[in-house]
This record gives sequence, structure tokens and C-alpha cells, in this order.
Amino acid sequence: MFGPLVLAYSAAQLLLGSPVVAVENGLARTPPLGWNSWNWFACDISEETILSAARAIVSTGLKDAGYEYVIIDDCWHAPARDPITKEPLANPVTFPSGIKSVADKVHDLGLKFGIYSDAGSETCARRFGSLGYEQIDAKTYASWGVDYLKYDNCNNEGFSGNESISSWRFSQMAKALNETGRPIVYAMCNWGEDHSWTWAGKLANSWRMSGDISDMFTGYSKDCPCTSLLNCTTFGHHCSATRIIDWTAYMVNYAGPGGWNDLDMLEVGNGNMTNDEYVTHFSMWALLKSPLILGNYLTKMTPDILDIITNDAIIAVNQDPLGASIKRSWKRLLEEGDVQMWTGPLADGSTVVALMNTSPDPQTATISFKDIPSKSPNPETTTFRAFDLWQRSSELTRSGTRWGLDIGLFQGQISDITLKRHQTKVFMLVPQVRTTLRIQEDAE
Ligand code: GAL
Repeated sequence: MFGPLVLAYSAAQLLLGSPVVAVENGLARTPPLGWNSWNWFACDISEETILSAARAIVSTGLKDAGYEYVIIDDCWHAPARDPITKEPLANPVTFPSGIKSVADKVHDLGLKFGIYSDAGSETCARRFGSLGYEQIDAKTYASWGVDYLKYDNCNNEGFSGNESISSWRFSQMAKALNETGRPIVYAMCNWGEDHSWTWAGKLANSWRMSGDISDMFTGYSKDCPCTSLLNCTTFGHHCSATRIIDWTAYMVNYAGPGGWNDLDMLEVGNGNMTNDEYVTHFSMWALLKSPLILGNYLTKMTPDILDIITNDAIIAVNQDPLGASIKRSWKRLLEEGDVQMWTGPLADGSTVVALMNTSPDPQTATISFKDIPSKSPNPETTTFRAFDLWQRSSELTRSGTRWGLDIGLFQGQISDITLKRHQTKVFMLVPQVRTTLRIQEDAE
């Protein structure tokens, strides 16, 4: 059944070599924000699951905080495509009104709509995939009003193993989406296989670069084996948040407007981490410029979880127009875990700094300004005003954003910052002259 398709693909691959299909769709200039059904619901989804999540995005204020894509993951499918037209069909029991009707209702709420497929013969949950059906699928998605496609990598019939063949396979959908003329964010999900972060930017608006996340803060699972670029061929699943953060350190330079490292959907609120751990998870995803795609049960969310995922200062860093990921400045290894400092520039010349404690004990750390990538000629002698982005304050706004608590002016360093077990603190450092300008701007 699959034979002719395999032959056709092999022939085309030989002819085409390694194509370059620039995504060039003008989308995702900042990382997409939204919600996806997989992490909480897996295959247990229906129209009502999706629409109640969409309504919750509006009623809880998540929409106002910037979350806009509502994405159905795997398992929306009918048992088979339309036997005559080969168009994809939705499961008539769980999605009786059809996908277009769900998309219309999501749009009516002022949100955008996303769907899932797979660059293989079948999805990971063994529903029909899009390999060989890229054009008809892209066309159908566009007619349904799809704004975002997550495109997975299971059952790829051996069309992987090097950049050329994987990028060729994923480029088929990139091309098909572009041909529809509808703006559709293209989110590649090949888990980093064939070092996709080095080439996916030519094709897609984001690319998964790790095995599947689990709702756990730390710990090594043999199912998530990659620790260095050299030993990594299988990406797996059951990856803890801190392992994905460490892994991302290798690829921070590839993130930028229009194309982002996707650290996987958030687990914040799914119950297996403490609030400090979820703060670390959310902060690092945001500062590493991952799409922030929530994966929790929105209609059962507690206020403290809502508080974490609506921290507008952290979201503003994620959405900063410069689009530069933080990079690791140092890592202090401890008997168990470590303390790490990460820094990155923001468009207005200020610097964001994250101090992360992955150890089970409280730690102290110092931010030395010599370690920060400031545009100031000499960060060591510049005075910076510092804001703690996890201490909420209604004071000092810039473009309507609350930037956390002003903790004062500093030169040279901020010393002896205390971090609880598994806690991350995030600071914004503003060269003093800019602070003055900003206060003036805000007053006008
Ligand atoms: C995995 C993917 C998950 C989820 C799942 C669905 O490959 O990484 O995020 O989409 O498939 O079957």
C-alpha cells in the first residue's frame, strides 16, 4: 500500500537533493502563545474539551495576557480519510460538527485555531498521517480556518536519518501551507531529530528540539537519553524540565523572530511540581524564547497557577521584539543539582538575568555585571536599576507592562541573592540613564 509512495519519495529526493524552502510567511515574529490539548487530555478529546478550553482562555484573562492559539493535538481524526476525495475527516463521534465549526467558534471568541498532523503514514497515536497527502491536507486545513499546524514525526517510514531527507519531508508541508495563501504558523515537531534546530528555520516557525516533556522538574530517565550533541540519536520522552533547559543551552543561537526553539508544551498546573518549580519551568521557557503553549486543564485551574502563567513581565520578555534567547553565563555544580545564571539582551538595551537553583537545598548567588551582555560600554562601572520580575508591583510601567518590583540601584554586582529549593528569580537590569528616560516617557 505504501510502496509506490516510498518509491516516488525516493525518486523525488534524489532529484531534489536538499531543498531550501524558506518559511517566509511573516508569522511568529515573537513566540506563539496558546493552549494545546495533549499534555492533559491526550486522546480523550472532543469538541467540548476544545471549546471549553477556548472559553476559559477568555474568561480567566489568559486572552488578555496574550494567549491566542487553541490547538487540537492528536486524535481528532476519523478512522480514515474520505475514500473518494482523500480529504482528512474528523472523528464523527467526538467532533460531530466538524473541525470547521470548532474553528469558527474559536475565531468568534477572538482567538486563533490550531490543528495537528504528522509527516508520516500515521500519527503517533496511529491516526492517518499527511505523508504523501500534504497538498490536500494543507488545502483542507486552510478551508477549515486553521491558523497553526503542529506537524509531528512518527511513522515516517524511514524518511529520516539525515538532514537532507528529513528537511525534504518537512518541506513538503511547508510548501503546501504556503501555497494555500492562508497565514498558518508551521510548528515542526521532529523532537530535534537530525539536529533539526540547525535547518528547521528555513522551513518552519518553530521546531521541537527535545523528546517529550513530562510533568517533572528534574531527574534522568533513560527514555530521554540526550545529554550531549555527540551521543544523541534518540530523543524519546519522559524528559524533565531541567533536562530540557540544559539541552537547550546547545541551540540558543538558533532562536529569532519568525523561528523558535520549541521546548515542548508547558506542564504548569498539571500537578506534579511545586509552585517554585513551575515558576522555574515557566520563566526559563519564556526567556529561552520557546512558544508558550499551555498544557493544563484550564477550567480546573487554581488561582496560583493562573498567577504564574499571567506574569506579564515574564510574558513581555518572551515577546520582546529583539527575539534574542538568554544564554548560559555559568553553572555551579553542587553535590545534587546546580545553580545557573543565564542572561540575554532586550530590545530597549536592558538585560534580563535568570538565576536558577535546581538543587534540593536553598542557595545564594551573586550577579556580577561583568557577566552580562549589556550594550553599555562598560557594564562593570554602569549603574543599573534592577527589577525583580516575580515580585509583583503596580508601579513603573512601560507600554502598559508592569515590570515587577524596583529593588534599587546597583553597581558591579547584586550580591547574595537567596534562592529557595528549585526556585528561579528573574531580574531586569536597566542602565540608569534609560530608567530616567523611561520614567519621563511614562509620565507623558
Ligand atoms: C508526540 C509529540 C507530542 C504529542 C504526541 C501525540 O510525538 O511529541 O507532543 O503531539 O506525539 O501523539
